[in-house]
This record gives sequence, C-alpha cells and structure tokens, in this order.
Amino acid sequence: MTTANLVSIADLSNDEIEEIFDLADASDKLRSKKVGHGKIMATLFYEPSTRTRLSFESSMQRLGGTVISCSDMQASSAAKGESVADTAKVVSSYADVLVVRHYWDGAVQAVAEHADVQVINAGDGGHEHPSQTLCDLYTLRKEKGELKGLNVVICGDLKNGRTIHSLVYALARFGANVVTLAANGMELPHYVLERLEREFQYTLAPVASDDLSAVVTETDAFYLTPKQPHQLALFTALDSTIQTRITSLVSGLRYDAFYMTRKQKERMPNSAAAGDYPIIGSKFLREHRFKDTVVMHPLPRVDELSPELDKDRRGIYFKQAAYGVPIRMALLHFLFEKGRRARISKTANSSVLFESPHPIGPHCPNLKCITVNEPGSTRLRFELQSEGPSGALILRCLYCDHRFKAQLVGQATSKKYCAYDIALADSIARWLKNGELAIFDSIKQAEELGYGPYKSGPRRAIMDQAEVDSAIQQISAQILSDCADPDRLLIVGVKTNGSMIAQRIATHLERAQKRKFELAELETYGAGEDLRRVFPADPELGPIQLRDRSIILVDDVIHTGRTVKTALSIIFRSGRPQSVRLAVLLDRGHRQIPVKPNYVGKHIPTADHERVRVHLRELEPDGVDKVLVYSIISPGENRS
Ligand code: CP
Repeated sequence: MTTANLVSIADLSNDEIEEIFDLADASDKLRSKKVGHGKIMATLFYEPSTRTRLSFESSMQRLGGTVISCSDMQASSAAKGESVADTAKVVSSYADVLVVRHYWDGAVQAVAEHADVQVINAGDGGHEHPSQTLCDLYTLRKEKGELKGLNVVICGDLKNGRTIHSLVYALARFGANVVTLAANGMELPHYVLERLEREFQYTLAPVASDDLSAVVTETDAFYLTPKQPHQLALFTALDSTIQTRITSLVSGLRYDAFYMTRKQKERMPNSAAAGDYPIIGSKFLREHRFKDTVVMHPLPRVDELSPELDKDRRGIYFKQAAYGVPIRMALLHFLFEKGRRARISKTANSSVLFESPHPIGPHCPNLKCITVNEPGSTRLRFELQSEGPSGALILRCLYCDHRFKAQLVGQATSKKYCAYDIALADSIARWLKNGELAIFDSIKQAEELGYGPYKSGPRRAIMDQAEVDSAIQQISAQILSDCADPDRLLIVGVKTNGSMIAQRIATHLERAQKRKFELAELETYGAGEDLRRVFPADPELGPIQLRDRSIILVDDVIHTGRTVKTALSIIFRSGRPQSVRLAVLLDRGHRQIPVKPNYVGKHIPTADHERVRVHLRELEPDGVDKVLVYSIISPGENRS
C-alpha cells in the first residue's frame, strides 16, 4: 500500500506545500505536458459538493487523465450497506487515485487503510479538509506575499467547520496568528486547541474583542499565537496587569484576512442549528482599519456574506474557489510523481502507538467518528500521550484526533487489570513494548475478556460521610458570603465527581436563598468538549451565556492543577465570564501549575506516590461518602 496519501494537512511538510504552490504557479505547463495521461481518478462523494469534486475532476482532465465519478454514493452500493473498507478495496482496482468525501470524522483514514492506491481526503465529517487548506493558503500567499506573521480572523462555525481545523494547523505551522471569532456555541474544539498547544506551542489569550464584535458579531475573540501570555492568567480575572498586557498585544492589531464560514447545519441537532449567526456586510466594508483586510470563505455561503462584498476588491472568495483547479492539478501531479517520497505526518512518526491485543477495547468518545459508526472498517489503534510526570495517560484516536483518558489498563499475559496510575508508567512501557498492554473502557469490558483485578496497597480513610457533608456545606456558605450578585452565579462541576459536588453546593445555596441557581458541567477529556447545561434542563435554551457571569468551578481533588487548566480552557472558549473561582473538596498539593483554589474543604498532606479517591454516595453501590488514601503496588510485585 502506498503511503503517499493526503488525509490530513499534517501529511505534507511546509516545504512540500511550497512545492505544490510552485507547481500550481506552473499549472499551464502541467496541462500542456499532459502529466496525468493514462491515470484514472475515482471521486467517491458520500456528501454533496460543487467545488471540491468538480475542481478535482477538471484538474484531472486538464492533466490528461480520466475520471470515474460517484457524485452521490446513495446511488452506489453504499446504499445497500457496503462498507467503506470494501468500497475502498474494490474501487482501488478501477482507479489510480481515490478522492473521497464522507460524513463521518476519520472515514478517509479508514479508506486509506484499505485502498491499494493513493487516497485524497475531500472532507471527512467535521474533522479535516486538507485540499481546501491548500487553496486557502495559496490564496493568502498570493494576496499577502507570505504567511508568517499574518493575522487571520476565523469566524463563524469553528466547531463543525472541517476547513477551519485543517487551516488553523497550517497557519500555525507557517507562523501566522489566529483570532477566533466563533458563533455562540460553535467554538474551536478542545482537541484542536490542545494540538495547537502541544505541537506548535500556540496558546490562547482572550483579547478585548469589542472592536471586532461591533462589526461582526457579539461573541468574544481569542488570539492564538506562539509564546504569548496564557489564558490561565484569566483565572484571576481581576489581575489588571495581565489584562492590560493582553489588550496592548492586540490594540492596533492589523487584520490581514477574515476567513468566514457557514453554519454547518447538517452536523447539528435542530435546536443548535437555530439562533443568531455572524454576518460580514457593509459595516465591515466602511471601517477604515479593514481597508486591507481580505475576506475569504471556502463556500458555499448562505447568509453570512453580504453580496455587497462581491463587488469589493477585498472579497476574494470566488478567486479562492477558482484556485481550486491549479492547486488540485499541482496536488495530483505532486502525489503521482513524487508521492513515494512524500513524508508521513510528523505526528505519526514520532508518536507511541497502541493497538489493542483484543478485538474489543477502548472506544473513541466522538460519536461522529468512523470507529464508532463503522467499526468493521477500522482498527482499535490510538496514539498514547502522557500528560506530564504525574499526569493522565491520554489516547488520541488515529482516525478523528479526539483525545480521552485511559481509565483501566491491563496486562494481557497475567490477565490482570487495574485503574491507570502514573506509578504504573514503567510497567505500562514494558507491556506496550511486548504487545501485552490492554486498555479498557470499563471493568465489565475487562472482565468479559477474562481479566481480574490487581490488588492495591493498604487504604486509610481520611474523611467519612459527615466530614464530606460538613466540608461541602462550609464551601457553600463561603461562596454565598462572597457572592455580590446571585443572579450572575453559575456553578460548573468537572465531571464526574466535581459535577456531583457542584449539585450539592447548588442545593445548599438554593436552601439558603430560596431560589434556584444555574448549574453546568464539563468534561476535561472525552466527548464532552463543551460546557453542558445541567439546570435548567431545557434543550431549547441553547448555549449557556457566560458574559459577565461569576463562575464557581467545582472539582473533588486538586493535585497538579492540569485538570483545572483544561477546565478553564473549555470555559473561556465558551465566552468571557467576569470571574472564575475554584472550589475543591480536597487540596492534596503537588502542584505543577500555579493554581490556587478559592474554597477548600480540607487540605490533606499526601506523599507523591499516594493516591486519593473520593467516593460519593450518588455514584457508589453502598451509597456512602468516603475519602481514601492508598498506595499503588507495582503489578511486578503483585502477581496474585
Ligand atoms: N469548499 C468546499 O468544500 O465546497 P464544496 O462543498 O462545494 O466542495
């Protein structure tokens, strides 16, 4: 199987992208030389398209090649239930390259694993659209000279817009800055932000966005740039020094491009699809400071770009669509002629891969992932990432990029499992090397595969039910005494234990104030990338409004501070609250990030090797609260 596929923008290095741009500049030569003569391209589109399919087909024909097309896979045997894997295998016999669009995230990676010919991703669900990014970068470079240092505002549906995800990775690699201006509830997904931070050291800093929101939308803007003040600074919302630094960073900022996107209604439940959406129109055109700001859009547009822009020199989206042909001619030639030396993504090369030794194992939490919707076409493979010396073991889905925390690990030879803990790092590295590492979603899954539990060391109880109750009551009283305006209060629990404690705090406040308080929860890993409303539980209410709110973030234990950092990132992606205060049942120290909780039920001195587990009655079979401290016994010492 060839490796020269374009599934993600990460499959191309910056030099390779520049090479494709040079080829696009010389597309007339490619056309006259008929460099695609004898080649057949198959276009397999499981979703509608105008630009991507037709520009690929036009490109192939201009290169002298031919095209076989399934413009609507509902008219193919996919409608009878044929899998992506079988389709890829079969069509590989008919064509030299497959250009595939699919509605599931990661589906084109699955096609690439089963095809015997080269594969190009023409858009996979809400995940990536790398050939569109080549058109976007080429257009930007043509207009602005170079990409490094440009300030690009991305606007609209940043959550579901696959063009946006590929684009921000590429802009980061070329050293451009990004201002995000998301429609309410459609912020950049957390997994995208994490990757920007991990791979490109980009950090997210809130900016005084009123200048932008006045002309476009009511949402908050964030400035993504390497090595700038981190958003954690906002934890102390009253810290005017930090806010001033951030504001001066962007005051007078030159905006080189506005990249607008449509609301991706096809990827939303009906309730989310309704509501306001930003529009760029005459107000934007009249502002002097945008006189050199080009407006881009991957198209199709719906209502978000006023037709007034069509006649303005700054509206370059039709030019952007026209560049689809020279760019895709260049891409096809690049993959045909030079594909065998095209590198595989840097991430894939340097990453630690885990493949489950069993046919069942951990599941990607993204419900729109191909691994969830068509598991038969995929393999149980993940990239393993460790979050710092005391951190979690994270699995990144190799199909859709979503990340989640490993909870249970096992050893395939001894058939023993236990909760993941950093103390097991050496054992896990050894099991991985020997192909013996198993990871499970649940105890039920481990036991179905014949695994039994490892033993842990002696446990000591440090809080009983009465102490837990009294600590939560005391935290609730402090929150109330600090609360100047109960109408602005929003209590946010970190799932799962933090969420339960948040509900108990809300109940205490409700009793004291004789009124209900708004309650939300968030998940720092897994499918839950958004702030979710818990009370009032009315799906018609839409996204939670954070502007000017006083948030109480609640978790059970604070240790390294990393969970809080992630939780803050999720909150600030959803809006700009007035303040965030942190309430924890237990502070066990050993911080890696300078976060200080405002409300603490109990400080407990623990050794670094010790573990703390909070058992809450809502979640325990015995219905009793308790807090236990215990040590991990290395599985190497405990074969029983
Ligand atoms: N930009 C883009 O992907 O357009 P189509 O959906 O028309 O292919």
